[in-house]
Amino acid sequence: MDTVKIGLCGLGTVGTGVVKVLQGHQERIQHMLGCKIEIEKVLAHDISKARDVEIDPNWLTTDPSDLVDHDEIEVIVEVMGGIDETYKILERALKNKKHVVTANKDLMALHGQKLIQIAKENQCDIQYDASIAGGIPIVRTLVDGLASDHIEKVMGIVNGTTNFIMTKMTKEGLDFDVVLKEAQKLGFAEADPSADVDGLDAARKMVLLANLAFKMELNLDDVKVKGIRQVTQEDINFADNLGYTIKLIGIASMDDHKAEVTVEPTLLPKDHPLALVNDEFNAVFVHGEAVGETMFYGPGAGSLPTATAVVSDLMEVIRHLRLGISGKSYVEPQFKRQLKADHE
Ligand code: HSE
Repeated sequence: MDTVKIGLCGLGTVGTGVVKVLQGHQERIQHMLGCKIEIEKVLAHDISKARDVEIDPNWLTTDPSDLVDHDEIEVIVEVMGGIDETYKILERALKNKKHVVTANKDLMALHGQKLIQIAKENQCDIQYDASIAGGIPIVRTLVDGLASDHIEKVMGIVNGTTNFIMTKMTKEGLDFDVVLKEAQKLGFAEADPSADVDGLDAARKMVLLANLAFKMELNLDDVKVKGIRQVTQEDINFADNLGYTIKLIGIASMDDHKAEVTVEPTLLPKDHPLALVNDEFNAVFVHGEAVGETMFYGPGAGSLPTATAVVSDLMEVIRHLRLGISGKSYVEPQFKRQLKADHE
């Protein structure tokens, strides 16, 4: 196995970042893996668009079959987003015995359990570290780094757009609508920002984190969600006078095998480490029974940070391929789905 050929679905912000990381870090990656990674095909909506990265025109296609039915492609890297169509592409890829790396938290939060099952049945890997908190390797941390511990709580700022908005509202005294427009202009917030500001994006990430941390199969409907639209300058000033900062915080906790996952604007003491995470940055605080408190900080989105996570996932898939352990590293859920709320 001198070369592993991949199919890249999506050539937007993250997709071009993946090409840049693969090209720019080629030697290092080859040295670490003992083989080369070659892009064989790229699925793009607009194949004539100019991009700020070196693209071989022979890569480009608008037909997913050119990737998922390609005999030589071993790994599909999905960075195009979307849910239903993307699900079909990845399902077909796995059934064709192609390993999958995805940065798609919407898809993983809604259909991740199904995709993981299909991956297992086909002895394939599916890795998705890039889907949560971009450049922070939080999935790997929960799955590997803290594997020996009993995780009791995961708490964090996992949405950069809302953190940017809350930071500006707090530091500059600006109103929500004004900062939202600025966030949109800077490209943080989507044109339709509801998934960010209403907390759904954070909820999707928190349910994925909760399932990894607690070895449970919770659903998105199990998350209690409240966004930041209602937070006013009055609330911020009131909190400030009492020594608190307001942040959109996701909390997943488990006691006695009963879980609770919430996303809501939360009062944090001003000296709490999460209160000091500003602008569009993310941070995840993990409390383990043995390790105690740990915190992971970094860029939660953006081309190169997210691409770094994607390529690291790709390298993990290739390591498994070389060791002949693809599809063998899944950890079965250990506890049945139980919520604290069901017992109150
Ligand atoms: N809209 C997301 C955020 C992008 O603002 O964090 C990264 O998932």
